[in-house]
Amino acid sequence: MKFGIRTLDEMDVKDKTVILRVDINQPVDRKTGKLKDVTRIKASLPTIKELSDKKAKLVILAHQGSDIEYKNFWSLKPHASVLRELLGREVLFLEDVCGPAALEAIKKLEAGDILLLDNVRFLAEEQTLFELSLKLTPSEQAKTLLVTKLAPLADFYVCDAFAASHRDQPSLCGFQELLPSAMGRLFEREYCVISELMESPKHPCLFVLGGAKINDAFLMMETVLKSGAADEVLAGGLAAEILAVAAGEDIGEAAKAFLVQAGHADLLPVAEKLLQDHSARLVRPVDYAYVKNGARVEAKIGQIPSGELAVDIGETSARHFRNRILAAETVFANGPMGVFEETASELGTKIVWEALGETKARTVIGGGDSIAAAAKFGQTEKIDYICTGGGALIRFLTGEELPVVRSLRRGSRL
Ligand code: 3PG
Repeated sequence: MKFGIRTLDEMDVKDKTVILRVDINQPVDRKTGKLKDVTRIKASLPTIKELSDKKAKLVILAHQGSDIEYKNFWSLKPHASVLRELLGREVLFLEDVCGPAALEAIKKLEAGDILLLDNVRFLAEEQTLFELSLKLTPSEQAKTLLVTKLAPLADFYVCDAFAASHRDQPSLCGFQELLPSAMGRLFEREYCVISELMESPKHPCLFVLGGAKINDAFLMMETVLKSGAADEVLAGGLAAEILAVAAGEDIGEAAKAFLVQAGHADLLPVAEKLLQDHSARLVRPVDYAYVKNGARVEAKIGQIPSGELAVDIGETSARHFRNRILAAETVFANGPMGVFEETASELGTKIVWEALGETKARTVIGGGDSIAAAAKFGQTEKIDYICTGGGALIRFLTGEELPVVRSLRRGSRL
């Protein structure tokens, strides 16, 4: 046991049916449906391989979300091909989650077989909106469709989805009510390393927050500024734009319209309160960049033409962020500074991510896009710790017990 959770060393899985929940949620190219990165799939391999080598009958559950929060309509078929290729062994895949076809396939599994079922978020009960509005308890989650259909066919439950451990959903928190449970190798490593890192971070400690999952970013800003864990927060991405609008800065009409249209207007009061309480420690961009005829255009606040949407922080801001990162002792980064996938809007993230690779500070990055940015700008080897989780890392750093950790502790007692 580690942290009150069973590890794979304490589970005899030979000839047993094991439900394994992984997080192989990867950035997807919305036009082609292709995976833009496979880092989390690679990180899940050791546990999958170990369980299959130990002759478990392996049933893998996973989700695929989108960079737009709460829209999770992607099949896991491409993930199955990547798994097959990386493992060099057969991975069965079914376009079913817990219907009759899935149940039949599970019953037919033989020792060592690997079956990947389709995106659990095709089930309403696995959707984040469902989670947030119904707030099911773990014992209620044990009564959901997924758990009631699959648990009777399984002997054990293993969770390796550290990156989704902040979610309170049946595939993550329901099975532990009924099945003896353990954490997988990736979960074990992430949990141990981050616990150790957070015990006594060296100061100055910076948090660099960007990306499009802004509910996570705001939660993080609020918590780390209030608790004093962060000496400073450097804000980029959508969070910076919301803060700018809340501060009454002119970043263009298009940005304002976009925030309202994307449903982020309710974060404006939160942003105003953050600015009121912590403006001295909240470092924000002084310029932005937009793209005109395929080319990057730098613009100071107040100079973005109406109709043009800021898609990156400006170069001056990025260099300023860089200097602060170089002077820090600990840096946590989550979420890119702008649309780094496109050449015209990559500069802000490139400068900041190169600083993460260069600084003497202890650096930790988390989340799919942050990992993809590190790979794109050649910084993967230079960053001290790359956590597969973005939102999970954030929640962990707030000091709250993660829902999956809570449930794994219960399932470890069965
Ligand atoms: C993540 O990417 O943070 C995890 O896979 C969880 O995804 P979600 O934010 O769609 O729940």
